[in-house]
Amino acid sequence: MTQGLFITFEGIDGAGKSTHIGTLAQALCAAGHTVTLTREPGGTPLAEKLRDMLLHDSMDALTETLLVFAARRDHLRCVIEPALARGEVVLCDRFTDATFAYQGGGRGFDLQVLSYMERLAQTGIGLQPDLMLEPHLTLWFDVPPQLAAQRLAGARAPDRFESQSVEFFTRVARGYADRAAGAPQRFARIDSAQPREQVAAQLQAVLAARGWLPGVAP
Ligand code: TYD
Repeated sequence: MTQGLFITFEGIDGAGKSTHIGTLAQALCAAGHTVTLTREPGGTPLAEKLRDMLLHDSMDALTETLLVFAARRDHLRCVIEPALARGEVVLCDRFTDATFAYQGGGRGFDLQVLSYMERLAQTGIGLQPDLMLEPHLTLWFDVPPQLAAQRLAGARAPDRFESQSVEFFTRVARGYADRAAGAPQRFARIDSAQPREQVAAQLQAVLAARGWLPGVAP
């Protein structure tokens, strides 16, 4: 059975992950991989409509969570699983860890219910219907919430999440740290308080250590 690689990018708003995804996609292509680059919420026409609502319309935490998982289910069925079945590398800007961090940590939504919804949304898809589809690797861009807030300040009109307080992002950051502690083999922590070149070097090292990118010559 062909099986690709599923790599997700996570971190609080302002952590700087988005600048590195395209560069990593290019490096993986140059190393001979076929890459599907996508994002959550979003990645399909239906999920992009849900994204627009999530980022701009007022709603409670349960509605937010249901929409996030609805978008994810469609994205998994229509884009992620088919690409993995073709043996591609899927790079996804955010995935379920963001739900645990934002809806769980940030909004205080029940983590056990989130775990149940995770299983519901990520099982029963494609080639391995009994398995819960999860990332092989999660690159967690970790940065102090104060620094992330400085980076975001004045960048553009903030959406429903970007306009939250530093306290909210401190809870989101704790949510990510808890998820990382629960899955240490899947998570790679990237210190994204460092300058851009050093963050890129950390990413290169993580992927090289797994044999997915060539190593840097000593
Ligand atoms: P983001 O990924 O930061 O995109 P951009 O770089 O275009 O701003 O924006 C998506 C927002 O959605 C982000 O603030 C976090 C939020 N989000 C959740 O709250 N829960 C989720 O499960 C996901 C995937 C995202």
